[in-house]
Amino acid sequence: MQPPQAALLGLVSPISESVLLAGVINPGLRDGVRPETNSPSELLLQNHALAVNPIDWKRRAFGIATPSFPLILGSDVAGTVVAVGEGVRKFRVGDRVLASGDGMVSGRMEQAGFQRYTVVGEAVAARVPKNVGWREAATVGTGLGTAVVGVFEVLGLPLEKDGDGGVNTGEGMLVWGAAGSVGSAAVQLARLAGVGKVFATASPTHHERVRKLGAVEVVDYRSETVVEEIVAAVEREGAKIRWVLDAVSEGDTFARVVEVLSRFEGEKKVAHLLPWPENVSKPADVEATRVNGGRIWGERKDLAAAVFNDRLEKWLETGEFVPSVPRVVEGGLEGLEEALNILRKGVSGEKVVVELEW
Ligand SMILES: NC(=O)c1ccc[n+]([C@@H]2O[C@H](COP(=O)([O-])OP(=O)(O)OC[C@H]3O[C@@H](n4cnc5c(N)ncnc54)[C@H](OP(=O)(O)O)[C@@H]3O)[C@@H](O)[C@H]2O)c1
Repeated sequence: MQPPQAALLGLVSPISESVLLAGVINPGLRDGVRPETNSPSELLLQNHALAVNPIDWKRRAFGIATPSFPLILGSDVAGTVVAVGEGVRKFRVGDRVLASGDGMVSGRMEQAGFQRYTVVGEAVAARVPKNVGWREAATVGTGLGTAVVGVFEVLGLPLEKDGDGGVNTGEGMLVWGAAGSVGSAAVQLARLAGVGKVFATASPTHHERVRKLGAVEVVDYRSETVVEEIVAAVEREGAKIRWVLDAVSEGDTFARVVEVLSRFEGEKKVAHLLPWPENVSKPADVEATRVNGGRIWGERKDLAAAVFNDRLEKWLETGEFVPSVPRVVEGGLEGLEEALNILRKGVSGEKVVVELEW
């Protein structure tokens, strides 16, 4: 029998793109449709948990990152491998896996997250150890992938503590917005890369958690003296800021970051997630680059594989990398509408997740 939501597929082509973007087509359109892998380097996952990212509601609201129609949203999935392409070397049928699906770049519906089965590339998949549940696993993919591009490509930190270009202990990094998905992953990657002095901003309720992730000092970004407090913390630690990952890149964060950096000598690099605003000038000694997290699915598959395939399972097992805190919305695929609305209104230190029953 045809699954109920699959019947909707027939309705899709006559509907205009603007109607789709207004949200008439529910996420989870292909409920029950099991696609095929069609590249040798892909895995097919039977999903157990899905997480929502800001880009999911933004795609629908603004029509961005939408290469083709019909459209299924979503990228972050955790599930069981049910098929592997002939070139897949690191995974087998039956493995528990987390991944970031690249439907928003490829336009292939089977690579979207908000459905029961998702095809994912081998490079952006990681085996999930037993100590990590589905809901926690689903929170990791896209936030971590974006932090990987930010920390290792844009800021140029080494993947291994003692590798080439190892980090000088006096050099510090600032993560602005360390309670969020990308920010919390960035703090942990910086620590794993050997940055001894990671500084961060977050709401006070998250300070302890962010310290546990690896920050030596965390400052409340709402404080009127936030810049002075960060500079004082860095000086207390005998460090200077050389790298910044602005994991918010909205409102006054660019101006605050520039203010902080003006207090330290030398060349500095900033990785930012949203476009640099015209009204904030870039100082000559600051190299600022927008992170393109989508590069984990293409040009920087190598970096993605180095983290997702080769390191993440062990990091999760040992607790060296801790997933975001999941906030489960009930209802499975039907809960995604509410999940998207919650995220659009804004979350604090949580990743919105749905779980799928089988
Ligand atoms: N360029 C790319 O490739 C790319 C990739 C992924 C995401 N993004 C974008 O990057 C942004 C972050 O994504 P995300 O998934 O990490 O979001 P998220 O997890 O939803 O971020 C939520 C967190 O943002 C923090 N926050 C909000 N305003 C802040 C401020 N002024 N200063 C410090 N922290 C602040 C909050 O911290 P508290 O709870 O401490 O208040 C909250 O915990 C989004 O706009 C997203 O669209 C871009």
